[in-house]
Amino acid sequence: MSKAQQLKAITRRMDSLPTLPQVVRKLTMMVESPDVTAQEVGKLISSDQVLGAKVLRLVNSPFYGFPGRISSVSHSIILLGFNVIKGVVLSASVFDLMERSMVGLWEHSLGSAIVSGALSRTLGLSEPEEISTACLLHDIGKVLVRVSLSRDYDQIVAQVTEKGSSFREAELQVLGVDHAEIGAWLAHEWNLPERLAIPIEYHHDPGSAPKFKERVAVVHIADSIVRACGVGNGGDPLVGRISPDAWEYIGMDKVDLPMLMRKILEDLEEVDCCQVSPAE
Ligand SMILES: [Fe+2]
Ligand SMILES: [Fe+2]
Repeated sequence: MSKAQQLKAITRRMDSLPTLPQVVRKLTMMVESPDVTAQEVGKLISSDQVLGAKVLRLVNSPFYGFPGRISSVSHSIILLGFNVIKGVVLSASVFDLMERSMVGLWEHSLGSAIVSGALSRTLGLSEPEEISTACLLHDIGKVLVRVSLSRDYDQIVAQVTEKGSSFREAELQVLGVDHAEIGAWLAHEWNLPERLAIPIEYHHDPGSAPKFKERVAVVHIADSIVRACGVGNGGDPLVGRISPDAWEYIGMDKVDLPMLMRKILEDLEEVDCCQVSPAE
């Protein structure tokens, strides 16, 4: 069976997709319209008080570069753009599940978003906010497996703990596809732009990305750095090797690594849940 067929078979037996609040579905349609204004979108998000508060908390995190300075949702839309806000709203809703049931993964995702923000800014990449948002969502496929294929998820976790396989190896054995492919499928279902969907799909294999190679490389490297720093837990005890393609795509040889690491550690320390664990 091809990967695509396998994926189709899997999505057919999913119990349900994580349910997105009504307001998120409305928002997804709204931001497609060319004449929509920041005020209209801001009003819609703020109509759900809990969601509005979460969006504000996320956009004020260090990874967007305006820590503690954005006081209204419409202001955040003007500063960050519709794609970023759409990603933030999606993660706020989906990771709601995570905060309750997958705390480690939520911390891992936040931590990765912080690292990718620092890395994109150091490299002078355009739209660092969008890159951070892609990073926030990079492991979204794991949430889907946990929520919608819970029996397979338990089997995957058992293989990781009992056989010491990597999380991806276990996924490939149990499901035939990994969370990156499932995440890409979900991104498509949710009409996320390719600039977010491609980093999600190729974050473990940046060498195969058909475009947006720099972004994919940043997400890939941020994912490894945050794991190496011991922030959160993506479900995998092993820290994967950083792909040499990724280093090459972003021209890492030009980066002052010690300075970048200091900035990353500072940013991580700013967020309560992302405290760096002391080395074991
Ligand atoms: Fe991953
Ligand atoms: Fe990850």
